[in-house]
Amino acid sequence: MIAPDTIQQILSVARIEEVVGDFISLKKRGVNYIGNCPFHEEKTPSFTVSAAKGIYKCFGCGKAGNVTKFVMEHEHLTYPESLEWLAKKYNIAIANVQLSPKQIEEQKSKEQLLSLNQLAKEYFVEQLWNTDEGKSIGMSYFKERQLSEAVMKKFELGYNPDAEQAFTNYAQQKGFTLELLKSSGLTTQQRNADFFRARVIFPIHNVSGRVVAFGARTLRKDKTVAKYFNSPETEVYHKSKILYGLYQARNTILKNDFCYLVEGYMDVISLHQGGVENVAASSGTALTIDQIRLIKRYTQNIVLLYDGDAAGIKAALRGLELIIEEGLNLKIVLLPDGEDPDSYMHKHGAQGFNEFVLNNAKDFIRFKIQFSMEETKADPHRKAAVTKDLITMFGKIPDGFIRGEYIKEFCSLMQISEEMVIREVNNLMRTALKKNAAIPSEDASLLQQQSVGNFEEISQPNFFQNPDEEQEKNIIRILLEWGSKTLSNNKTVAEYLFDEVEISLIDNVVCAKIFNQFLQEFEQTKLFDSSSFINSPDEEISAFVAELLKDQYLLSPNWESKHQIFIKDREMNFEEDVNSSVHHFKLKKLLKLINQNLQKIKTEKNLEEEIQLQYIHLQLSVMKADLAKASGTVIRK
Ligand code: CTP
Ligand code: MN
Repeated sequence: MIAPDTIQQILSVARIEEVVGDFISLKKRGVNYIGNCPFHEEKTPSFTVSAAKGIYKCFGCGKAGNVTKFVMEHEHLTYPESLEWLAKKYNIAIANVQLSPKQIEEQKSKEQLLSLNQLAKEYFVEQLWNTDEGKSIGMSYFKERQLSEAVMKKFELGYNPDAEQAFTNYAQQKGFTLELLKSSGLTTQQRNADFFRARVIFPIHNVSGRVVAFGARTLRKDKTVAKYFNSPETEVYHKSKILYGLYQARNTILKNDFCYLVEGYMDVISLHQGGVENVAASSGTALTIDQIRLIKRYTQNIVLLYDGDAAGIKAALRGLELIIEEGLNLKIVLLPDGEDPDSYMHKHGAQGFNEFVLNNAKDFIRFKIQFSMEETKADPHRKAAVTKDLITMFGKIPDGFIRGEYIKEFCSLMQISEEMVIREVNNLMRTALKKNAAIPSEDASLLQQQSVGNFEEISQPNFFQNPDEEQEKNIIRILLEWGSKTLSNNKTVAEYLFDEVEISLIDNVVCAKIFNQFLQEFEQTKLFDSSSFINSPDEEISAFVAELLKDQYLLSPNWESKHQIFIKDREMNFEEDVNSSVHHFKLKKLLKLINQNLQKIKTEKNLEEEIQLQYIHLQLSVMKADLAKASGTVIRK
């Protein structure tokens, strides 16, 4: 882990305009810089950078953030990787946090596993290309499958000879222990033998290109041996978090903005050979959420290639809702019965493949709707079950508009009431959210009141998940934006907020964290420094603040001429901004308390307790009336 001091140092040295300037040319315009957005195609510049605030925003595609976010998005890196990237650029030596002996041990053993895998890969490659057995058995197998030498090299394919312990002995001579060999899966537990004997080898890379595991195919035709042996789960290989071929595919996925998903090692390799390089494989198992998120780092669009036989269709219909739930666009191509992408590519060539895919790609949800229709035609008794199944799927589509369109289509096909389906979907989403987001039931009931018969309400997942969020964010925004300004009651805005806002009422964890940190710093130093939050070493805070302030400090280039006026206007009216933000925060919280209390009254059995609760209700109602009266008036001293 990078030490907090180092993070601080990196962030204090990194200049956003320099970092962005490494990739696009920026021109100074007013107080900001502006250039062509690197995240989408454009001819007139709408990508704006505030050097003073350390944030950027594109008015074309909406991307915004601080310097680390830029590096993460542009270079497709994780947060720690982006810090390393910046450290390199600014020649800052990275100090790591003192690791505990246990952590050091873990890191060491991971590193050892990776170097053992590296050795094994080189050994298998060597065997395939430069030994008699490798050439006559392994190589001729690959040739039989029509693989080119180039693609074999690209995927670092290999061969493990038919010898009891050849590799195990070799690795031990190179200094690796038997214990490590066993834990890597390369050597068997009981007989200390090579695990992948007499098989061709497919090394499995992680996205940084390190070999984390192997798949190994038998060359025998008999069905009694497993076709593939795979490495077991190890400290460096978590099957559910790896997609085969993603390392070789990632640049093309970015370029084409979609990814083919196939089942097998050979499918990936044959597609590459045919010139289709944006492809990854789930390696024969159901897709996991981690694998989907891995793809999501590169694209929002997935095209599934599946065998069109009954088993293939069944497999396709299972588990894919995870993809829908993540908001990704999914298309499906069913290959002719008995074909897989590998065999299809070899039979029909790249052009035939591309044509077939283009003509046969179906929108997944539509495919599922139509497939279900066929099913109910054959068996009308299944109508209810099928409808329920589809309603479940609709409930998982995050985008309200898209969801509505599919529901419409489904209902007109099935000739059932759209209203009924919408209601069912709404109910389902509500229950799911209550369960998943752990919304207190009173919030949910508050929402229910707001969203009765209103489909659109639900299509805003953020609002739905946390109805107080806007008000809380606004409090943090005025704290950061106006904190040190003096109000007409002679208090600073920050002081006023510390008095008026009860911190325990702030539910959003990041908001509470910022408020708290501000309060603590203020008590110690009596100073306000909002800029330190944009470059906070706490990623959650810095990302949140950059997002929050982007609209305040960055104006669309078209607005540039009016910029100064706009800022002046805002500044002149800051007191109103503060007033109304505090008002709305209080009102929202008060309504919530009233609602909670009403729920309690409803369920309370004890009369005395109930009277107590009624009394609280009265008090809260008075507070609400007071608040309403005070709204729009100046802040009371
Ligand atoms: N698989 C596996 N273990 C098996 C069978 C399959 O791990 N015993 C995985 C492999 O990743 C394989 C994928 O499931 O690539 C798809 O299996 P299958 O379609 O049977 O194999 P193909 O990839 O088509 O391999 P080949 O063309 O060589 O028969
Ligand atoms: Mn195959």
